[in-house]
Amino acid sequence: KNRLHELCMNLDDFERVARDVMDNGGFGYYMGGATDEWTLKENRSAFEKYRIIPRVLVPVTSVDMRCSFFGIDLRFPVMIAPSAMHGQAHEDGEKATARAAVRAGSAFTLSSLGSMSMEDVAGAVPTDHQGKPKGLIFQLYVFKRRDITEAIVKKAEALGYRALCLTVDAPITGRRERDLRSGFTVSDAMGQLPNIQMLGNVVNQQLVEFEAQKDLTLDWSIITWLKSICNLPVIAKGILHPADARCAIKAGAAAIVISNHGGRQLDSTPATIDVLPAIAAEVRGEIPIFLDGGIRRGTDVFKALGFGANAVMMARPAVFALAVGGEHGVSRMLRLLYDELECTFKLAGCKNISEVPSRMLSSVLAASS
Ligand code: FNR
Repeated sequence: KNRLHELCMNLDDFERVARDVMDNGGFGYYMGGATDEWTLKENRSAFEKYRIIPRVLVPVTSVDMRCSFFGIDLRFPVMIAPSAMHGQAHEDGEKATARAAVRAGSAFTLSSLGSMSMEDVAGAVPTDHQGKPKGLIFQLYVFKRRDITEAIVKKAEALGYRALCLTVDAPITGRRERDLRSGFTVSDAMGQLPNIQMLGNVVNQQLVEFEAQKDLTLDWSIITWLKSICNLPVIAKGILHPADARCAIKAGAAAIVISNHGGRQLDSTPATIDVLPAIAAEVRGEIPIFLDGGIRRGTDVFKALGFGANAVMMARPAVFALAVGGEHGVSRMLRLLYDELECTFKLAGCKNISEVPSRMLSSVLAASS
């Protein structure tokens, strides 16, 4: 029996083991970023600039890290960001990732480019007292064929997905040189992408086909349109500029994800943790702020909370954990991050999320006020 995931003691361990168990092209597709991969590295290294200055002699017998967004109850403020084709990492694919996430009290975002259907994923997770699947979000790309886009949205709503995650930073796909070198293409990897099947025969040259279908004329009114065709909250994913955070609020977004798409789209964009303070100052609590990009440690989550995020998301640790140990791998990965975050709360002297103040964080070793 595969017990490799039990040897993993932190999130980076899953990436190291995944490198060995996955084929080169598939691993490169997951771990890589755009062009020089500068932003990919920056997402990680930026966290190292910030220090946590703890408060001591605070009673911390129990900490409460729970939070809730549009009917999604989280045991801790961590969700799984959308990423394509989990079937490439493990035969159980998104069903396993989603089940592990929801069971851990996290949430799962199914990508439009997922290898499993919305129905299968909805059927794989625990349900609430109304029989509705818990903790699921659907990530949406808007296609030129608005009728098909609308059908996809309505299907997600009918199946009990709690929100739409509208990806706003990918009108086209970034240049991923690793994939160009390895020859990795979606069509080689997987036979089909069930959630965009309606776009026609996409069995061959899927990415080319998919690229050609995306609507490049989108502006902020797309959020108004989505809200007119369904009752789901719309999360705008891929915000880096405070002015765009304001646009998202004006357009009616229910939340934003500060994201540079894990360094896979426009290289040279800043690390997400670095733009968070300015965006938090603009948003001022009007809607929840989520952040993704390089979250690998409990201390990273803590820093994001301190600078004003309401929760974080992560993608690569989930697919690497899936590759290493299937559902058990993802469960263990989330357990490790939960334990790290709880440990950080206790050692920093915080009992709940609202007690994580930015004045505990410092970019230099100066005394906190
Ligand atoms: C992604 N990401 C992504 N985002 C999205 O909106 N739709 C998608 O289909 C995908 N697909 C995808 C595939 C793979 C392999 C990766 C690694 C990422 C981006 C993802 O949601 C997220 O923004 C970043 O990956 C977060 O950074 P970390 O946690 O991977 O460092």
